[in-house]
Amino acid sequence: MKPEKKHGAVPVSRVRLRSAEACCAARGSGQVLEALRREVNARGLEDEVQVTACSSLGLCEHGPNLVIYPEGLWYSGVTPADVPEIVRSHFQEDSPVERLRPLR
Ligand code: FES
Repeated sequence: MKPEKKHGAVPVSRVRLRSAEACCAARGSGQVLEALRREVNARGLEDEVQVTACSSLGLCEHGPNLVIYPEGLWYSGVTPADVPEIVRSHFQEDSPVERLRPLR
């Protein structure tokens, strides 16, 4: 049986935001989302890792946030420069990037 596919979601919608300045989109989540898609494809993980945008996760002041299922694990304050480490460490080495997990 094939293992369950992992899923990374990045909020890019401004729906339910209190202020545009505080939202993930205003802090560059769109660039994080594109970097994540590129890195997953570059490493040939597109059949194992599904990347989607989502609406606000409710912790806007810590964004851009990334939540990964099935673990339910969050990364916060993510930049495009963090994405290669996340993909390599989390998805390929099964080792979370602890420095991006201030909300544990
Ligand atoms: S917009 Fe990212 S958590 Fe609210």
